[in-house]
Amino acid sequence: MKPTIPCPLDRSTPTTRHQSAIRWLATFTLTIALTACTAGVDLDPALADAPMPDTYGPVDAELADAGAWLFQRNCSACHSIGGGSLIGPDLSGVTERRSLDWIAAMIRRPDSMMAADTIAQRLRAEYQVPMADRRLDGARIRALIEFLRRADIGPGPADSRVGRTEGGVEWERAGDGPVVVLVHGTNLDREVWRGLRHRLGGDHSVVSYDLRSHGGSADADGPWSDVADLDEVLDAAGVGASDPIILVGLSAGAGTALDYALEHGGRVTRLVMVSPSVRGFVPDAGDVPDVFGPLMAALATGGSEAIGDAMVALPTFAVPPEQQPGVDAMVRRNLRLFDVDPAWASPPDVAPLERLGELTPEMVILVGERDFPATASLAAHLTDEVASAIRISIPDGGHLLPLTHPDALRQAIVAPLSRLRN
Ligand code: HEC
Repeated sequence: MKPTIPCPLDRSTPTTRHQSAIRWLATFTLTIALTACTAGVDLDPALADAPMPDTYGPVDAELADAGAWLFQRNCSACHSIGGGSLIGPDLSGVTERRSLDWIAAMIRRPDSMMAADTIAQRLRAEYQVPMADRRLDGARIRALIEFLRRADIGPGPADSRVGRTEGGVEWERAGDGPVVVLVHGTNLDREVWRGLRHRLGGDHSVVSYDLRSHGGSADADGPWSDVADLDEVLDAAGVGASDPIILVGLSAGAGTALDYALEHGGRVTRLVMVSPSVRGFVPDAGDVPDVFGPLMAALATGGSEAIGDAMVALPTFAVPPEQQPGVDAMVRRNLRLFDVDPAWASPPDVAPLERLGELTPEMVILVGERDFPATASLAAHLTDEVASAIRISIPDGGHLLPLTHPDALRQAIVAPLSRLRN
């Protein structure tokens, strides 16, 4: 696609060195560049009325390509993606920190946003220059959003290998480099890792999978072991039995990762425990807030709708408002575990907390300061008992740190321990 009219704001490689010159130019051209640079982009107008996708849903590659073209012509004079702020903010991660509807409104009517929206007003105070109204129609805005989403979460399965173990567990592997394996928590699925997976995919080979009875994996129809499932995933995804792995677990997934490291210790070089929950840990009564009543009631008498409502209301699944719809959808589509007989879960016989002294991998623990106090006390216990353990507190973090703090998590995975210690 070639533009047929020159676009006043077209700049392919903006650098901060020229920032003040561009700032001037942008303010000036704002008045003359009222016609959007959309020549050459042919989009279905019906897109304007199509519902917004999930932040973490599959990416439409063709639409994102059209968005990339539009971004280049209409936005790149003021915004980079991952290259730092220019005249406006760096848009890397914007689809994770704002709702997609908010972004659409910001592109469509920056003036109205300035009048009514406190986030937009805060940004204006910081950047001083008004965000440009590029007069784009709904279909083009939708294409831009698809492009921004792809920049944040990566192209998805089209770019990775997806398969199933013989036992029916669905896995995904992408990227080249040291192997990182991601184990999600209960009532979630591997989409919880999308932002992190994308941040790791450039220099790591990332294996993620859906636990049994979650996501695209088969339901448990008898006794099963999460440790055995994980071992089968590694095998099916082509990770050699003696290849070293970095193992990352979220919540109960951290418990599974710990069980795995105790059974197959030699191959795990680093164990990253995110908002950990470990079998056999008994927190002080005061460390567990009384929030489970409605869920218990729904499990006893309610249908799946009521159970879903009670689940998404738990503080465990609380994230900033712009991320909440995506998390709620993930939790609601992963309630099948409640139909499985708990007696079928077959964890290893030995209690992991009694074997911590045997652990060989280095351990990094991430805890959000807004998570349950019980998570912090478990993290403190692990730090006391495991010589190599480093505990990192995330001041404004809750339980779902992979969604809210993927960059901190990447650091915990890749940085040398000596750096994390400081
Ligand atoms: C003239 C420079 C300029 C152009 C061109 C421009 N923007 Fe902006 N944009 C800004 C500024 C400056 C802000 C910060 C808010 C403000 O000061 O009004 C901003 C804010 C934003 C935000 C909110 C960022 C955040 O962190 O929440 C988004 C999203 C955005 N712009 C998208 C776009 C897109 C997409 C385009 C192209 C269609 C575009 N902008 C074109 C200057 C620009």
